[in-house]
Amino acid sequence: MELKKVAIIGSGTMGSGIAQWFLQQNIKVDLVDTNEVQLKNASDKIYKSLDTLVSKNKLNENEAKTFKNNLKACSLNDIDFDVDLVIEAIIENLEIKQKLFLDLDKKLSEHTIFASNTSSIPITEIAAPLNKTRKQNFLGIHFFNPATIMKLVEIINGFDTDKKLSQNLVKFFNQKAKVAVLCNDRPGFIVNRVARNFYGESLRIVENYDLEKIKEIDDCMKQVGGFKMGPFELMDLIGIDINFSVTESVYRAFFDEPRFRPHKLQKEMVLSGRLGQKTQKGFYDYEK
Ligand code: NAI
Repeated sequence: MELKKVAIIGSGTMGSGIAQWFLQQNIKVDLVDTNEVQLKNASDKIYKSLDTLVSKNKLNENEAKTFKNNLKACSLNDIDFDVDLVIEAIIENLEIKQKLFLDLDKKLSEHTIFASNTSSIPITEIAAPLNKTRKQNFLGIHFFNPATIMKLVEIINGFDTDKKLSQNLVKFFNQKAKVAVLCNDRPGFIVNRVARNFYGESLRIVENYDLEKIKEIDDCMKQVGGFKMGPFELMDLIGIDINFSVTESVYRAFFDEPRFRPHKLQKEMVLSGRLGQKTQKGFYDYEK
């Protein structure tokens, strides 16, 4: 499979990282956002990051120049009609994502591959309003944060996805030094699903807020389990509110399966405004 040009919709945390990764593969990128300030910030961030790679001798100046020239920050109307692939990385909301794909359906070539970077919404649901041909050409491409660094990419088949397409994309990413895995369209795919229990069981062990036990579990997972971060540190990094809402949505999507049940401590933390690093207080205190 050869991709010459891609469009990334949404230039936030994920969209900007995904755009930069494609640029570094020497692939042209149209980057879109409804928020112009965000789009400008994303382009600046990508430029700066490429310059840093030059200063660390990881890229040469010519490469960085080419990659910068290959980035087009634009509006939805200005995406090239025949981009090979469009990846949506906008707000995690089913209706808004569906509307975006209906707009893209009118604008883009029938050969364009449609993909969503959703973390938790079923691919089959996002593709539901589209016609059969589009559905066959629609799949999930789930990058991890930061997208330029994290090797794993989950490739998700929707109900109608052409299996050859997803296999080709797995090959494409593996050839580009990512580690791509094929997943079924189930809530949380692989990593977010397995991770539910990493957090959930740890919360059940602690039961109530108890810093000593929290530290003990984090230390144990790092020193014995070899994890880079413990579950509580990781929830603080992600945002306890975000983590709680993903837990709730996975639990509901599995028809209230007890294994995925959210924990009252998560809710208490959210209600008390202790959301993690972003509020300076979570399971740990970051004020110092
Ligand atoms: P973000 O909030 O950082 O960025 C979203 C961007 O989309 C914003 O700049 C916003 O202005 C823009 N946007 C919203 N509606 C739009 C529309 N209709 N058209 C064009 N632009 C629009 O969000 P983030 O974290 O980058 O997440 C994006 C997607 O990636 C979500 O589906 C999320 O679940 C998924 N994801 C997030 C990860 C993370 O660690 N943050 C990891 C993997 C997937």
